[in-house]
Amino acid sequence: MNGTLQSVLHPAGADAAVISQFTWVLFGAGTLIFVAVMALLVLSLRDNAKPLRPGLWIAGAGVAFPVLVLSALLVWSTWRSAQLVPQSSNTALGISVTARMWWWEVRYRDPGSGREIVTANEIHVPVGQTVYVGLNTADVIHSLWVPALSGKRDMIPGRVTGLTLRADQPGIYRGQCAEFCGAQHARMALHVVALAPAAFRDWLQREAQPARAPQGALLERGRAAFIEQRCQTCHTIRGVAETARLGPDLTHVGSRIRIGAGLLRTHQGTLAGWIADPQSAKPGVFMPAAAGIDGDTLRALAAYLEHLQ
Ligand code: CUA
Repeated sequence: MNGTLQSVLHPAGADAAVISQFTWVLFGAGTLIFVAVMALLVLSLRDNAKPLRPGLWIAGAGVAFPVLVLSALLVWSTWRSAQLVPQSSNTALGISVTARMWWWEVRYRDPGSGREIVTANEIHVPVGQTVYVGLNTADVIHSLWVPALSGKRDMIPGRVTGLTLRADQPGIYRGQCAEFCGAQHARMALHVVALAPAAFRDWLQREAQPARAPQGALLERGRAAFIEQRCQTCHTIRGVAETARLGPDLTHVGSRIRIGAGLLRTHQGTLAGWIADPQSAKPGVFMPAAAGIDGDTLRALAAYLEHLQ
């Protein structure tokens, strides 16, 4: 798999390839024109510069040249834009993403049971398949942008928008909220994980399962702590407590790359630190610190969450 890329210049999807080409062609054309203008400036400043015929230069360089260049770019970019993946919700796989301050809720439909599968901050897609991502927001305006895969699309309160995308190479692509949405806008990241079709089906099947049952005293203590600390007021763990929707669904949190919407690598240590003091990691986040939790309980809770693969 490729590294975690968040770059327009390293396209891994059909739309991103077109956008990346636009970037290079416009940058290249702009550079050539800039260099030519600077060369003319140098020539004009020489002592023995010949007098010009102003009419000719105004008509040629001031009118004819820009009309020619801009028309050519317009024709080319219109032709190239027509090759973008057609925006349509009529795709085999539909995913729904809800933006929240400051994380992403991601929903799938289990093809077997028809039940909804809820996860967070990671969008898994099969490689080579056009996927429709339905977008909405639970609070303010956000914008989904995964530069290596496609352009960006705003998520506007009261409206459902969507983005059709296709990843052509397996890999993990970082995305970012691209519309200022409050204190932690900068730390509202996500990852698109593009998997081979068989691996994607396996992932979806695993994701549809309820949470793993804890094995051993430590993990059992961790699961009990989840209830005692009232984590289930905001978080769902399918098979343990399923009513809350305020925070990310934690049923398979241990299998996610990062916690805190792209902030910290997922492991026992970062989970414990986050639970004990989320405000240090992400000031303003709506999650309160687990007040008065003792070290052993915190370790057990973090171990339990890490084991929820
Ligand atoms: Cu969400 Cu910026």
